[in-house]
Amino acid sequence: MTTRHDTLQQSAARHLMLHFSPQRLDDLLVLERGEGPYVFDTRGRRYIDALSSLFCSQLGYSYGQEMAEAATKQLTTLAFNTNWGTAHPAAIELAERLTGLAPEGLTRAFFTSGGSESVEAAWKLVREYHLANGQPRRTKAIARHTAYHGVTLGALSFTGVPRFKEPFGPAPIDVVHVANTNGFRAPDGDDPAAFRDRLLAETEEAIRAAGPDEVALIIAEPVQNAGGCLTAPPSYWRGLRELADRYGALLMADEVITGCGRLGEWFGVTREGVVPDLVSLAKGLTAAYAPMGAVVAAERVVAPLIEGGRPLRHGITFGGHPLSAAIALRTIEIFERDGVLDNVRTLAPHLHGRLRELLSLPIVGDVRGAGFFWAVELVRGEGGARFDAAERERLLRGFLPPRLREAGLIARADDRGDSVLQIAPPLISDRALLDRIVDGLADVLGDAGRHMGLSG
Ligand SMILES: Cc1ncc(COP(=O)(O)O)c(C=O)c1O
Repeated sequence: MTTRHDTLQQSAARHLMLHFSPQRLDDLLVLERGEGPYVFDTRGRRYIDALSSLFCSQLGYSYGQEMAEAATKQLTTLAFNTNWGTAHPAAIELAERLTGLAPEGLTRAFFTSGGSESVEAAWKLVREYHLANGQPRRTKAIARHTAYHGVTLGALSFTGVPRFKEPFGPAPIDVVHVANTNGFRAPDGDDPAAFRDRLLAETEEAIRAAGPDEVALIIAEPVQNAGGCLTAPPSYWRGLRELADRYGALLMADEVITGCGRLGEWFGVTREGVVPDLVSLAKGLTAAYAPMGAVVAAERVVAPLIEGGRPLRHGITFGGHPLSAAIALRTIEIFERDGVLDNVRTLAPHLHGRLRELLSLPIVGDVRGAGFFWAVELVRGEGGARFDAAERERLLRGFLPPRLREAGLIARADDRGDSVLQIAPPLISDRALLDRIVDGLADVLGDAGRHMGLSG
């Protein structure tokens, strides 16, 4: 008998194109239902969504009723209006709420439909700012190696993963990539101050080489996702702020992942004690109950446009869709009512402590991250040597995905940088669930080590 599962597999193999995946679809994981932190596939198997559906489902899957009420209210009042020339109450209210949660001075919000759009909108705003200030030559940006800032062609310029860029020709934006904050193998990685000073010196050198009056923007994530949850050494962000100020560039925190509670703050950069000029948000802004992104900008960035009576030459039809805005407003309400940020702040040290236990496995070389956003780096045993390309294929794409499924876990094996396994549980996860995630990882990684011939 052909089951619904089989029908969907066959139909997907014929018609559905997956993002960032091989287009030959065998045994595709098709998820059809969610409940709390769990998702269920078309065979009825349950998984802990330890990745929050690619860092998005901050609240898990049981707020549908409440979100539907907010959606129904909005859709039966005003289904749609743009934020081009006109506006609607939901976008206005959200702009006020969001800027109220932002670091001091970030007073303006521009809405988009997702992360890449936010990064590109921010870049347009940066260019308009410099043009309005009579600095048209500021056309370059500084970003970091291995960082992922999106893959639409503009945003792709900032992304520092060469293999995602090579097929598509020269990048439209001139971006210089500098070292990221991965201290694991860095010669001075054990000395945070020396490490920070070296990174900042390299960034300054890159600015000078690019031409100090040609650099428009420094863009970075407070914790860089690609490469595996790379936290910054103390005062690194202060250093970026100083460099941006010294050379007349703007500073942007790309918080598409680190924002909206992932690090226990609405804006993760708050942890660094620094106010950037722009912040990009997306993914968790609506807890993924609708698609939405935003750029939150400092008053001083928008002021030259206002004072000069200049338009922002950029727009997205569905940017700030009333449905998404209503759901984002409800998400903020739920975060406050249900103490979501407090949950992350309270449980993050426990999660970190439990994850550090994995260091006793020969395949685990490093554990890094913050909040509910963690990576374990996978190594070839004692000494921390890297796996080669064939081994990575065998481990990250051959062994781990089915073994994680068998363990009832969704997590991410990735090698855009070094080999890592990442987790980012829903922000409503309790201690027992976090323990189960770590216990599951311990089993899977124990087997993975044996599979790769590591003893211990
Ligand atoms: C830091 C960061 N910026 C931008 C993006 C692009 O977002 P989207 O996939 O919504 O276009 C991502 C996506 O993962 C991201 O992690």
